[in-house]
Amino acid sequence: MTQISWFQNKHIVLGVTGGIACYKACELARELGRRGAVVQVVMTKTATAFVSALTFQSLTGREVKVSMLDPKAEAGMGHIELARWADLILVAPCTANTMALLARGQAPDLLSTLWAAATCEKAVAPAMNQQMWEHPETQANLERLFGKAQIIGPDSGIQACGDVGSGRMSEALEIANTLEATLNRGPLAARRVVITAGPTHEPVDPVRYLSNRSSGKMGFALAEVANRLGAAVTLIAGPVHLEAPAGVETASDMHAAVHSALDEVDLFVGAAAVCDMRPTFVSRQKLKKSKNDLSQLILTENIDIIHSVATSPNRPSLVIGFAAETERVLEHARQKLTTKSLDAVIANCVASGEIFGQDETEATIVFSDSDQKLVPGTKSEVAQEIFATLSPLLAKGIRNEPGI
Ligand SMILES: Cc1cc2nc3c(=O)[nH]c(=O)nc-3n(C[C@H](O)[C@H](O)[C@H](O)COP(=O)(O)O)c2cc1C
Repeated sequence: MTQISWFQNKHIVLGVTGGIACYKACELARELGRRGAVVQVVMTKTATAFVSALTFQSLTGREVKVSMLDPKAEAGMGHIELARWADLILVAPCTANTMALLARGQAPDLLSTLWAAATCEKAVAPAMNQQMWEHPETQANLERLFGKAQIIGPDSGIQACGDVGSGRMSEALEIANTLEATLNRGPLAARRVVITAGPTHEPVDPVRYLSNRSSGKMGFALAEVANRLGAAVTLIAGPVHLEAPAGVETASDMHAAVHSALDEVDLFVGAAAVCDMRPTFVSRQKLKKSKNDLSQLILTENIDIIHSVATSPNRPSLVIGFAAETERVLEHARQKLTTKSLDAVIANCVASGEIFGQDETEATIVFSDSDQKLVPGTKSEVAQEIFATLSPLLAKGIRNEPGI
């Protein structure tokens, strides 16, 4: 498996300050570790009243640092060494109080001292009551931090105190993803990627539709990985049972959404299982078995979305398709590559039906002149392998010419 997270082996000082959102920092510490970072938690004294240092120590495997005036800690990695060690200091949650210290270069505790002494990347995720957030001094401190640190959030909504407004700390995943996308010097940094995912639904009547067994998990995994690699990702999903922004329903909707997103795109990955056919007439009334209505179903071929992308004047540099086949998998995939003017096809064998909806998959990338079998793994791992293969091609600008 190719490890490609920006966080891999990075040294992160996670500063945790005294607010209700401390519990979210536990999830954040775990998430950063999951992405391969070495996480050193530094807590303010107030933060230890909200979550114990032991919790963070268990999550990160490293002793938590709280005090600057700790001779034992200074004899180990002292505060200046720690400031030099860090690739990133992330303060999450960041209270109004700590924000004021950081913005003004004041250094009364270990965290603010590290901040003042470090020249690495810096980020804060503010978390506070909405009145505190709106306070002119907090806003002035925010202004002071702009350009010196990345500010992530805060989000709006109902707060722990019952108020409604801005001040909620962003979710752990959002913080990690935002940092990954902005700090990432990865192979897809500044690339624009459009990915389709899931099935489409082709209405038959008000209660029925034609569809297929695609879950959308592969397309979602691709989108998440591309995002982590720094790409600006547009995900266009059909109806799926995954947590997702509103998607599209039919092949025709997906076609329209894809073409409206195609401006200056570097890479298009058609992972959606778009229905080939749709009912020619959609009945306004429910069709009746008793009248033998369903046997009268007439089908019309849907537009071929990926072919339309590959032959569009806005053609992305690379257009990649998927082929789920039950037999002669590589042969059919290569046929698809040629007839649709694609640069590569990710071929899956679905003869057993076992790949649909599963978290694991196996696939082969088929090019016009070679195949590359990927190491079987989770859909996320396979997505990483796919981008590890495609990114260098993007850099070289290799692609099939549209023609067919
Ligand atoms: C229950 C409770 C919740 C608090 N939540 C927040 C918060 O979310 N954001 C904030 O800025 N301050 C909050 N405070 C106030 C801070 O704890 C206080 O300003 C403290 O001095 C911050 O210290 P620190 O920045 O060194 O961690 C809260 C206080 C209490 C008692």
